[in-house]
Amino acid sequence: EHGPYSSKLQVPEALTFDDVLLRPKESRVEPDDADLTSRVSKSVEVSVPIISAAMDTVTESEMAVAMARHGGLGVLHRNMNVDEMVEEIHRVKSADDLIIPTDSVVTADPEMTVREVDEMMVREGVGGAPVVNTRGEVLGIISSTDIRPHLEVNEDDPVTEAMTDEVITAPEDIDARDAFDLMYEHKIERVPVVDDENLLVGLVTMQGILQRREYSEAVRDDDGRLRCGVAVGPFETERAEAADEAGADILFIDCAHAHNLNVIDGAREIKESVDADVVVGNIGTREAAEDLVDFADGIKVGIGPGSICTTRVVSGSGMPQITAVSQVADVASQHDVPVIADGGIRYSGDAIKSIAAGADAVMLGSYFAGTEEAPGRVVTMNGKKYKQYRGMGSVGAMKSGDGDRYLKDEPQDEDEYVPEGVEAATPYKGTLESELHQLAGGMQSGMGYVGGGTIPEFKDRSEFVRVSAAGQAESHAHDVVITDEAPNYSPADE
Ligand code: XMP
Repeated sequence: EHGPYSSKLQVPEALTFDDVLLRPKESRVEPDDADLTSRVSKSVEVSVPIISAAMDTVTESEMAVAMARHGGLGVLHRNMNVDEMVEEIHRVKSADDLIIPTDSVVTADPEMTVREVDEMMVREGVGGAPVVNTRGEVLGIISSTDIRPHLEVNEDDPVTEAMTDEVITAPEDIDARDAFDLMYEHKIERVPVVDDENLLVGLVTMQGILQRREYSEAVRDDDGRLRCGVAVGPFETERAEAADEAGADILFIDCAHAHNLNVIDGAREIKESVDADVVVGNIGTREAAEDLVDFADGIKVGIGPGSICTTRVVSGSGMPQITAVSQVADVASQHDVPVIADGGIRYSGDAIKSIAAGADAVMLGSYFAGTEEAPGRVVTMNGKKYKQYRGMGSVGAMKSGDGDRYLKDEPQDEDEYVPEGVEAATPYKGTLESELHQLAGGMQSGMGYVGGGTIPEFKDRSEFVRVSAAGQAESHAHDVVITDEAPNYSPADE
């Protein structure tokens, strides 16, 4: 006997961010000292456990470079063809190269006049250029300081008259330390790198070296290149192999329902054909995790929590995110598989609650879509600045890619799309660096309240309390009129 209810309605409850809070505990952890180092997949460690979403209004190479430089990871979206994707991966992997390779170095031809070289350097935004003959031999180096007017250089002279011909060069195996010392000693800004025959192989610049030093938290591979992830469809073996070949560190099998058995077969096949780590998602239940732990290098969680997602409304299916993450983490942690909580994070508090629920890292879309580094233009509406942000299951995004993330065939006609996302605008926010600073800083505060100085300690120590609707209202700013907007809380969010 089931009393007044049918057995179908004797159902478990599932919770999300606002339903819970972290129980404050005795602590000696100062937030600034809390260490956010974590893993996003079996072999990729990050300095901050934060990932930018594989969405065409969030992550292209510019975002991925900025994320990795500041200690996180960007996942390139897949609304681009395979060649474009390979190009984007190369942009990230080579962004912080010590040696700029020859084909990216601005060089001058000895036949050019001083004026032509000057104009070229201004156009290319460089302060100097090696002068190289057709064989590729380095004849000299010219810099903008060599052609200042007071030096009485005739602009119509060949560049060979104005260049320095006693060039300081470096061998191919030079490292950052030696390159710095060499430039410091000779008071120069750039050094051509040459092979045994004095042929140009690349260029090292002081600016490049200083920039590298600035990013002490940067997430790099064993060769010192920035790390990046890339989204791959579950049946896109060719894309997966090309991404692997191009040096992507993690392939994110990108699907709205990865507990589909065909998707798992596809993911397994991809895993067998690549060297890169393979993260599989999204899922939201214990049983799905059980089907992935034997081969996945990481598992991504989130069925419908995203800000632009309409999956739950359209399909009637989904799993509130805190319950989803904790169910998956229960299984994944026993197999040492990292878990990523993807979607629905509005505040730093949501991010650290995800970690407490068992995630090793978090993925965000809307939080980063308004930054300068996200693709897309800034638009002004009613005097306020916005950037476009759209779901990858929105009509617009499906039209420029395909719908296979949602396991749908390509329709003939626009009105045949059954979208699971919306197209929107999000307030323009300035640089990624300041957004990440707020997000990571808030997460560290959470670690301070719980007394966990590292991510593993925090996960162990943290406990949740359940919050009522009244408790939730109490959590937000209330009974006041906010006069100055805080950098990490918007009155519109109340
Ligand atoms: P946030 O909340 O950070 O969520 O903006 C980003 C995540 O949402 C997922 N995503 C979608 N989910 N329909 C969906 O149901 C969509 O059109 C869509 N686009 C993105 C994705 O997991 C992303 O990381």
